[in-house]
Amino acid sequence: SGIAYLNSEEPIMVIKHCPASKALGAVISGIDLAKPIDGKTVGALKEIWAENLVMIFRNQSLSDDDLIRFSSYFGECEKAPIGDSVLGPNIPPEITVVSNVKENGKTIGFLGTGELTWHTDMSYIPEPADASGLYAIEVANGPGGETSFLNMFSAFETLPPSLLAKIKGRTANHDSSYTSAGTLRTGLPEVTDVRKAPGAHHPLLRTHPVTKRTALYLGRRPNSYILNLPVPESETLLDEIWSHTTQEQFVYQHRWVKGDFVFWDNRCVMHRREPFDSGERRIMHRTQLKGASPYYHP
Ligand code: OGA
Ligand code: MN
Repeated sequence: SGIAYLNSEEPIMVIKHCPASKALGAVISGIDLAKPIDGKTVGALKEIWAENLVMIFRNQSLSDDDLIRFSSYFGECEKAPIGDSVLGPNIPPEITVVSNVKENGKTIGFLGTGELTWHTDMSYIPEPADASGLYAIEVANGPGGETSFLNMFSAFETLPPSLLAKIKGRTANHDSSYTSAGTLRTGLPEVTDVRKAPGAHHPLLRTHPVTKRTALYLGRRPNSYILNLPVPESETLLDEIWSHTTQEQFVYQHRWVKGDFVFWDNRCVMHRREPFDSGERRIMHRTQLKGASPYYHP
């Protein structure tokens, strides 16, 4: 569909969007994110986002300030997570550099070149980031480095009734010890008992505050624990939930091109990354929006 707007500076701006996949995602064209966007267009984007969960913009040429300004139309930009970020001299605090590139022997970003397992950003804190955006500055020559997104509304809606019954009313601990790359965060001990892992407790089902739809909310599999269950039962139930959730039919895989900006809703989307060749250079700048405590209204 296309929407035409009369805008004071531009003669006519037409934004168009088409589905990125059957599962989720919209590719939005006809918009230059390097320029301020009027309220009407932001409203249209919010609608597209609520429906498609992931917004994909191509052929952009954006500064960090552009990324922060655009992201801020959808909420409040949050500072990069402590410990994760490698703060460069010219990087604003709202930007996290995700990169394997080394300059003068020091890495300029985080998350390396390995696989990032399925996760949703920051779920290990009480108020996880509502949304995240990644802007591709340098991309790895593939295959490798693709980012996949998974529709957690669909994962919820297709739960077999018997599995849904076991999930309802349950809360999980979201371990904060390890990154999605599987590395132990600085200063934290290894997890030997999932019941004692640090992190945040969230309901397995959450209500989306904007659309009021229900999504599964899993965070990440390693060291996850469903409260008030014996560990073996929690493990079995988690395995069952995860094997249902990680079905191809719920997934869109994004192959990055320099200039892509992808903005997703962490409240209803999980993502993962394919590993890429360590001889390749990949530089992404990330923004994230401040979140609120997840809740579930049956
Ligand atoms: C992240 C992340 C994926 C990627 O920055 O939170 O998961 O493809 N990145 O780099
Ligand atoms: Mn992530």
